[in-house]
Amino acid sequence: MTPRALVTGASSGIGKALATELAKRGWKLVLVARDEQKLVNLAEGLVNGPHEVLCGDLSTDSGMFDVCARIDADLEPVTLLVTAAGSGTSGAFPWSPMTEEETMLRVNVLATLRLTHTAAHAMKRRRVGGIITVASTAAYWSAGTYAASKSWVLLTTLGLRAQLDKSGVRVMALSPGFTKTEFHARSQTDPSGVKAWMWLDAEDVARQAMDDFDAGKAVCVPGRRYRALVETVRHLPPGGRSAVLRRLAPLRSQAKVTPLPPDSSQD
Ligand SMILES: NC(=O)c1ccc[n+]([C@@H]2O[C@H](COP(=O)([O-])OP(=O)(O)OC[C@H]3O[C@@H](n4cnc5c(N)ncnc54)[C@H](OP(=O)(O)O)[C@@H]3O)[C@@H](O)[C@H]2O)c1
Repeated sequence: MTPRALVTGASSGIGKALATELAKRGWKLVLVARDEQKLVNLAEGLVNGPHEVLCGDLSTDSGMFDVCARIDADLEPVTLLVTAAGSGTSGAFPWSPMTEEETMLRVNVLATLRLTHTAAHAMKRRRVGGIITVASTAAYWSAGTYAASKSWVLLTTLGLRAQLDKSGVRVMALSPGFTKTEFHARSQTDPSGVKAWMWLDAEDVARQAMDDFDAGKAVCVPGRRYRALVETVRHLPPGGRSAVLRRLAPLRSQAKVTPLPPDSSQD
């Protein structure tokens, strides 16, 4: 069976780097994101083509269903699912806009739930496959809704791995730390206070992820320093963990406060 990976979030950052790394390692790709032009450009530039482009918004039911249908299809089957699409919010809950919170939950959690559910059934049926979800080191030490969504990804992936043990389907969670991508600009967060050593390159993250997946690891935390930090911090109580993170990586929201609409009841 031709190794074929469906990568969500392939238009940018970690997803794009994972797609590039997979193509170099001989995989055919199904590239998923909203920005069609970026996906087409990537598909044309990657080695080992031709690659497929599947444009869709994973915060919508129709976008999720289209991607699930491709994962389930037995013609040119997808043998590896990588769920890298993700978003954050421009402020901390409850000061963040509710629409951003709901979109984040749909992309980070609901789409991951539906896509991995479909992949688990299709791959178990075919007795072969792999699933890589993208969590975050935020799952270990941050508080708030983004961190909670990434804790959900991490714990769900570990449960899925246990359920698919000996089924021929390998499962791994990728938990990167701060990585140079469009993520912080998109979520209008100023990461300039983050210590320089904490920044990872998406290409290094992707290479480490695929090495660890090939080695059968359950979780990949790229970077020796991050692995040491996660090990140290995970034994602290939650308040202590967040305090360490605030010291090492203070983040500030750059979002403008939206003025309340004029009170129409006075008209
Ligand atoms: N950067 C970090 O520091 C960091 C650290 C830990 C974990 N992560 C996680 O890594 C993953 C990738 O993020 P990144 O850092 O590479 O950020 P990025 O450069 O902003 O890329 C995000 C990707 O997700 C796609 N995406 C976002 N919303 C989508 C939607 N509604 N439907 C379909 N695709 C959508 C984007 O494509 P389109 O806009 O074209 O749709 C883009 O390809 C995320 O899950 C993030 O939480 C990032």
